[in-house]
Amino acid sequence: YGEFNQKIDYVFKVVLIGDSAVGKSQLLARFSRNEFSVDSKATIGVEFQTRTLTIDQKTIKAQIWDTAGQERYRAVTSAYYRGAVGAMLVYDITKRQSFDHMARWLDELRTHADRNIVIMLIGNKSDLGSLRAVSIDDAKEFAQRENLFFMETSALEATNVESAFETALSEIY
Ligand code: GTP
Ligand code: MG
Repeated sequence: YGEFNQKIDYVFKVVLIGDSAVGKSQLLARFSRNEFSVDSKATIGVEFQTRTLTIDQKTIKAQIWDTAGQERYRAVTSAYYRGAVGAMLVYDITKRQSFDHMARWLDELRTHADRNIVIMLIGNKSDLGSLRAVSIDDAKEFAQRENLFFMETSALEATNVESAFETALSEIY
């Protein structure tokens, strides 16, 4: 392999799902480019970004897919989930409704995705602790009941973003 070619051991497709405005696209921007935008536009259709990282001495190319939380902007669901080995189920810790909808998103995920998919529940916007509407206990209980990993993140402050994706990716591998 030449200097500019990296040997890729695995390519993993990971999907982001959750209500509109919970911060899916900004989690992806933070993870793939270390960027954040306050005036993030609602996603229309499907987008993806890749990032190559090393876990346990293996080179893993993570292909992270992002879609619209808004029903009217969503593309064909089955195509989105096809081949996904990981899923990030995202809610906003300041929006109770986005957490209450997790069960519905999980249903959709389990209907369309491979049954061995690794799922990480993510409570995003942990920087807005004073506006918290979902307790860590509630989230942990749901995660435990549904067999999900759980982490709170802040795309804004770059808290736990790396670690959430890395945990999911290392569980896949
Ligand atoms: P859809 O594409 O419509 O499904 O929304 P989305 O889940 O992709 O949300 P997006 O990433 O576009 O973020 C929505 C809003 O939340 C934007 O104004 C972001 O700047 C803001 N936001 C995202 N992550 C964070 C965070 O960690 N903390 C704070 N305070 N704001 C955030
Ligand atoms: Mg988006």
